[in-house]
Amino acid sequence: MDRDIWRHKAEDYERRLWYVVGPKCLEAALNAVSKEPKPGRAADFGCGTGLFTRPLALNAEHVVALDTSRAMLESASRKLKDLGNVQWVNASVLNTGLPSAELDTVLIANVLQVIKDRDRAMAEAARVLRPGGRLVLLAWTATGMGLWDRVTMVWRYLKSMGLPPSGAANVSPEEARQLVERSGFVVDGLEMLGSRVKCIHMRAHRPEENSG
Ligand SMILES: C[S@@+](CC[C@H](N)C(=O)[O-])C[C@H]1O[C@@H](n2cnc3c(N)ncnc32)[C@H](O)[C@@H]1O
Repeated sequence: MDRDIWRHKAEDYERRLWYVVGPKCLEAALNAVSKEPKPGRAADFGCGTGLFTRPLALNAEHVVALDTSRAMLESASRKLKDLGNVQWVNASVLNTGLPSAELDTVLIANVLQVIKDRDRAMAEAARVLRPGGRLVLLAWTATGMGLWDRVTMVWRYLKSMGLPPSGAANVSPEEARQLVERSGFVVDGLEMLGSRVKCIHMRAHRPEENSG
Protein backbone atom coordinates (compact mmCIF):
# COMPACT_ATOMS: atom_id res chain seq x y z
CA MET A 1 0.00 0.00 0.00
CA ASP A 2 1.12 3.57 -0.69
CA ARG A 3 2.79 5.64 2.00
CA ASP A 4 0.11 7.57 3.90
CA ILE A 5 0.64 11.00 2.42
CA TRP A 6 -2.54 12.28 4.15
CA ARG A 7 -1.20 11.55 7.64
CA HIS A 8 0.15 15.06 8.24
CA LYS A 9 -3.07 16.70 7.11
CA ALA A 10 -5.48 14.53 9.09
CA GLU A 11 -5.86 16.74 12.15
CA ASP A 12 -6.67 19.98 10.36
CA TYR A 13 -7.59 18.87 6.84
CA GLU A 14 -10.91 20.72 6.91
CA ARG A 15 -9.30 24.03 7.89
CA ARG A 16 -6.80 23.60 5.04
CA LEU A 17 -9.56 22.76 2.59
CA TRP A 18 -11.61 25.76 3.69
CA TYR A 19 -8.59 27.95 2.88
CA VAL A 20 -8.24 26.39 -0.59
CA VAL A 21 -11.85 26.27 -1.83
CA GLY A 22 -13.51 28.87 0.38
CA PRO A 23 -16.74 28.73 2.38
CA LYS A 24 -19.24 29.18 -0.48
CA CYS A 25 -18.18 26.23 -2.58
CA LEU A 26 -17.70 24.06 0.49
CA GLU A 27 -21.19 24.89 1.76
CA ALA A 28 -22.73 24.23 -1.65
CA ALA A 29 -21.09 20.79 -1.76
CA LEU A 30 -22.16 19.95 1.81
CA ASN A 31 -25.72 21.05 0.99
CA ALA A 32 -25.80 18.85 -2.09
CA VAL A 33 -24.95 15.78 0.01
CA SER A 34 -27.36 16.70 2.80
CA LYS A 35 -30.18 16.96 0.22
CA GLU A 36 -29.53 13.48 -1.15
CA PRO A 37 -32.89 11.73 -0.66
CA LYS A 38 -32.92 8.48 1.34
CA PRO A 39 -29.35 7.24 0.89
CA GLY A 40 -30.36 3.97 2.61
CA ARG A 41 -27.38 1.61 2.99
CA ALA A 42 -24.52 3.80 1.81
CA ALA A 43 -20.76 3.93 1.42
CA ASP A 44 -18.44 6.92 1.45
CA PHE A 45 -15.51 6.06 -0.83
CA GLY A 46 -12.39 7.87 0.42
CA CYS A 47 -14.16 9.49 3.37
CA GLY A 48 -11.12 11.44 4.60
CA THR A 49 -11.96 13.25 7.84
CA GLY A 50 -15.67 12.54 7.42
CA LEU A 51 -16.61 15.98 6.15
CA PHE A 52 -19.21 14.55 3.75
CA THR A 53 -19.80 11.38 5.77
CA ARG A 54 -21.77 13.40 8.33
CA PRO A 55 -24.46 14.84 6.00
CA LEU A 56 -24.71 11.46 4.29
CA ALA A 57 -25.05 9.55 7.58
CA LEU A 58 -27.66 11.95 8.96
CA ASN A 59 -30.11 10.68 6.31
CA ALA A 60 -28.81 7.16 5.75
CA GLU A 61 -29.62 3.90 7.51
CA HIS A 62 -25.98 2.96 7.63
CA VAL A 63 -22.71 4.22 6.10
CA VAL A 64 -19.53 2.28 5.45
CA ALA A 65 -16.88 4.99 5.36
CA LEU A 66 -13.63 3.77 3.89
CA ASP A 67 -10.23 5.26 3.33
CA THR A 68 -6.67 4.02 2.88
CA SER A 69 -5.35 6.56 5.39
CA ARG A 70 -5.60 5.32 8.98
CA ALA A 71 -4.88 8.84 10.22
CA MET A 72 -7.77 10.32 8.24
CA LEU A 73 -10.07 7.53 9.50
CA GLU A 74 -9.03 8.12 13.11
CA SER A 75 -9.68 11.82 12.77
CA ALA A 76 -13.06 11.13 11.15
CA SER A 77 -14.19 8.62 13.73
CA ARG A 78 -13.31 11.04 16.55
CA LYS A 79 -15.25 13.88 14.90
CA LEU A 80 -18.29 11.75 14.14
CA LYS A 81 -18.40 9.71 17.34
CA ASP A 82 -21.90 11.08 18.03
CA LEU A 83 -23.22 9.14 15.01
CA GLY A 84 -24.05 5.52 15.65
CA ASN A 85 -24.57 4.39 12.07
CA VAL A 86 -21.08 4.74 10.58
CA GLN A 87 -18.61 1.89 10.20
CA TRP A 88 -15.01 2.95 9.57
CA VAL A 89 -13.04 0.69 7.27
CA ASN A 90 -9.39 0.91 6.26
CA ALA A 91 -9.67 -0.16 2.61
CA SER A 92 -9.05 1.07 -0.90
CA VAL A 93 -11.76 2.28 -3.25
CA LEU A 94 -10.11 0.04 -5.83
CA ASN A 95 -10.85 -3.09 -3.84
CA THR A 96 -13.22 -2.41 -0.96
CA GLY A 97 -13.92 -5.99 0.07
CA LEU A 98 -17.62 -5.07 0.32
CA PRO A 99 -20.21 -7.58 -0.94
CA SER A 100 -21.60 -7.10 -4.44
CA ALA A 101 -24.90 -5.40 -5.25
CA GLU A 102 -25.93 -4.58 -1.66
CA LEU A 103 -25.68 -0.80 -1.34
CA ASP A 104 -28.25 1.86 -2.21
CA THR A 105 -25.80 4.77 -2.48
CA VAL A 106 -22.10 5.32 -3.03
CA LEU A 107 -20.66 8.77 -2.42
CA ILE A 108 -17.24 9.53 -3.86
CA ALA A 109 -16.13 13.02 -2.90
CA ASN A 110 -12.87 14.52 -4.09
CA VAL A 111 -11.09 11.25 -4.56
CA LEU A 112 -11.01 10.89 -8.35
CA GLN A 113 -8.62 13.84 -8.59
CA VAL A 114 -6.08 12.14 -6.32
CA ILE A 115 -6.00 8.56 -7.66
CA LYS A 116 -4.54 7.13 -10.84
CA ASP A 117 -6.96 4.30 -11.53
CA ARG A 118 -10.24 6.17 -11.73
CA ASP A 119 -11.92 3.58 -13.95
CA ARG A 120 -11.23 0.87 -11.39
CA ALA A 121 -12.73 2.98 -8.59
CA MET A 122 -15.88 3.51 -10.67
CA ALA A 123 -16.08 -0.19 -11.50
CA GLU A 124 -15.87 -0.97 -7.78
CA ALA A 125 -18.68 1.51 -7.06
CA ALA A 126 -20.80 -0.16 -9.75
CA ARG A 127 -20.05 -3.60 -8.28
CA VAL A 128 -21.14 -2.77 -4.72
CA LEU A 129 -24.32 -0.92 -5.73
CA ARG A 130 -27.55 -2.82 -6.19
CA PRO A 131 -29.27 -2.40 -9.58
CA GLY A 132 -30.98 0.99 -9.39
CA GLY A 133 -28.48 2.13 -6.74
CA ARG A 134 -27.10 5.66 -6.85
CA LEU A 135 -23.67 7.14 -7.34
CA VAL A 136 -23.06 10.65 -6.00
CA LEU A 137 -19.85 12.21 -7.22
CA LEU A 138 -18.28 15.44 -6.03
CA ALA A 139 -15.04 16.81 -7.41
CA TRP A 140 -13.43 20.22 -7.02
CA THR A 141 -12.42 21.23 -10.52
CA ALA A 142 -10.43 24.03 -12.13
CA THR A 143 -12.59 23.70 -15.25
CA GLY A 144 -14.72 26.80 -15.72
CA MET A 145 -12.71 28.94 -13.29
CA GLY A 146 -11.20 32.23 -14.37
CA LEU A 147 -7.43 32.36 -14.80
CA TRP A 148 -6.78 34.49 -11.73
CA ASP A 149 -9.02 32.33 -9.52
CA ARG A 150 -7.20 29.22 -10.78
CA VAL A 151 -3.79 30.68 -10.00
CA THR A 152 -4.99 31.70 -6.53
CA MET A 153 -6.44 28.26 -5.86
CA VAL A 154 -3.29 26.43 -6.99
CA TRP A 155 -1.14 28.73 -4.87
CA ARG A 156 -3.40 28.20 -1.85
CA TYR A 157 -3.39 24.44 -2.43
CA LEU A 158 0.40 24.27 -2.53
CA LYS A 159 0.71 26.49 0.53
CA SER A 160 -1.87 24.61 2.55
CA MET A 161 -1.69 21.00 1.34
CA GLY A 162 1.78 20.77 -0.22
CA LEU A 163 2.51 18.93 -3.44
CA PRO A 164 -0.41 16.87 -4.77
CA PRO A 165 -0.09 13.05 -4.74
CA SER A 166 1.46 11.42 -7.81
CA GLY A 167 -1.25 10.71 -10.36
CA ALA A 168 -3.35 13.66 -9.17
CA ALA A 169 -5.06 15.56 -11.98
CA ASN A 170 -7.89 17.94 -12.63
CA VAL A 171 -11.11 16.21 -13.64
CA SER A 172 -13.43 18.15 -15.95
CA PRO A 173 -17.21 17.63 -15.90
CA GLU A 174 -17.02 15.93 -19.29
CA GLU A 175 -14.27 13.57 -18.11
CA ALA A 176 -16.33 12.78 -15.01
CA ARG A 177 -19.36 12.00 -17.16
CA GLN A 178 -17.38 9.72 -19.48
CA LEU A 179 -15.79 7.99 -16.52
CA VAL A 180 -19.10 7.07 -14.87
CA GLU A 181 -20.69 6.10 -18.18
CA ARG A 182 -17.78 3.77 -18.99
CA SER A 183 -18.63 1.86 -15.81
CA GLY A 184 -22.23 1.42 -16.96
CA PHE A 185 -23.88 4.18 -14.93
CA VAL A 186 -26.68 6.33 -16.30
CA VAL A 187 -26.17 10.00 -15.48
CA ASP A 188 -29.24 11.62 -13.91
CA GLY A 189 -27.82 15.08 -13.33
CA LEU A 190 -24.62 17.07 -13.53
CA GLU A 191 -24.29 20.56 -12.09
CA MET A 192 -21.46 22.88 -11.30
CA LEU A 193 -21.49 24.19 -7.73
CA GLY A 194 -19.77 27.37 -6.57
CA SER A 195 -19.03 30.60 -8.37
CA ARG A 196 -15.33 31.51 -8.37
CA VAL A 197 -14.27 28.05 -7.18
CA LYS A 198 -16.06 25.13 -8.82
CA CYS A 199 -17.19 21.70 -7.76
CA ILE A 200 -18.74 19.03 -9.98
CA HIS A 201 -21.86 17.46 -8.50
CA MET A 202 -23.04 14.44 -10.46
CA ARG A 203 -25.77 11.95 -9.69
CA ALA A 204 -26.01 8.69 -11.60
CA HIS A 205 -27.55 5.27 -11.13
CA ARG A 206 -26.72 1.68 -11.92
CA PRO A 207 -29.40 0.50 -14.37
CA GLU A 208 -31.71 -2.38 -13.49
CA GLU A 209 -30.53 -5.67 -15.03
CA ASN A 210 -33.34 -5.79 -17.61
CA SER A 211 -33.34 -2.12 -18.62
CA GLY A 212 -31.87 -2.72 -22.02
C1 LIG B 1 -8.91 15.00 -1.03
S1 LIG B 1 -9.26 13.85 0.26
C2 LIG B 1 -11.05 13.84 0.23
C3 LIG B 1 -11.65 13.36 1.51
C4 LIG B 1 -13.17 13.51 1.63
N1 LIG B 1 -13.86 12.65 0.71
C5 LIG B 1 -13.56 14.95 1.39
O1 LIG B 1 -14.08 15.26 0.30
O2 LIG B 1 -13.36 15.76 2.32
C6 LIG B 1 -8.86 12.33 -0.51
C7 LIG B 1 -9.00 11.14 0.42
O3 LIG B 1 -8.95 9.96 -0.40
C8 LIG B 1 -8.20 8.99 0.30
N2 LIG B 1 -7.71 8.04 -0.69
C9 LIG B 1 -6.75 8.20 -1.62
N3 LIG B 1 -6.61 7.09 -2.38
C10 LIG B 1 -7.51 6.19 -1.89
C11 LIG B 1 -7.86 4.87 -2.22
N4 LIG B 1 -7.27 4.22 -3.23
N5 LIG B 1 -8.83 4.26 -1.51
C12 LIG B 1 -9.45 4.89 -0.47
N6 LIG B 1 -9.16 6.16 -0.11
C13 LIG B 1 -8.21 6.80 -0.80
C14 LIG B 1 -7.12 9.77 1.02
O4 LIG B 1 -6.56 9.03 2.08
C15 LIG B 1 -7.91 10.99 1.46
O5 LIG B 1 -8.47 10.79 2.73
